[in-house]
Amino acid sequence: MHQDIERVLISEQELAARIAELGKQVAADYADKDPIFLGILKGVVMFFSDMIRATPIQCQIDFMAVSSYGGGTSTSGKVRMLKDVSVDLRGRHVVILEDILDSGVTLSHVCAHLREMGPASLKICTLLDKPSRRQTDVKADYVGFTIPNEFVVGYGLDYDEHYRNLPYVGILKPEVYTK
Ligand code: XMP
Ligand code: MG
Repeated sequence: MHQDIERVLISEQELAARIAELGKQVAADYADKDPIFLGILKGVVMFFSDMIRATPIQCQIDFMAVSSYGGGTSTSGKVRMLKDVSVDLRGRHVVILEDILDSGVTLSHVCAHLREMGPASLKICTLLDKPSRRQTDVKADYVGFTIPNEFVVGYGLDYDEHYRNLPYVGILKPEVYTK
């Protein structure tokens, strides 16, 4: 295990098993809808690639990049759009794929922005949900794991852009972000 990780919260095996289940559920719900899976970069990279392979239906993919945290462990409250969508969402069924729903600030901005583009439907699929920190009324339609209020990294999630390559979701040692 990486030296900065206090403990593994969700192992590679647990991630794979849950994503297989989520994929079946999303595939059943969207089988005839040719959905657009819209990933929010960068944290979603690993979840996105595993999730779309677990959802073997006709679909398209796209990405947005937003940033709200800077170098800290809680939201700055400001969401910067770094890359907008690149396909036409009008009349389409859109499923946002996200790594973690925390305060909800990021997804409430993203959803408001996407609704202006006139999708036929807009749903949220998040790998992790931290409901104890919510500041907005955003709710996810599909949740991989509900987690306690701990700062987690790995499997795409970062602290100061590091740890994204860990194959599991782990709890970072507090001394790493308090020093
Ligand atoms: P909000 O607070 O806007 O957060 O719902 C969403 C974005 O913030 C990042 N985030 C985290 N990243 N460990 C991380 O590595 C965490 O515990 C964590 N909580 C929030 C993440 O990028 C997410 O998209
Ligand atoms: Mg993110």
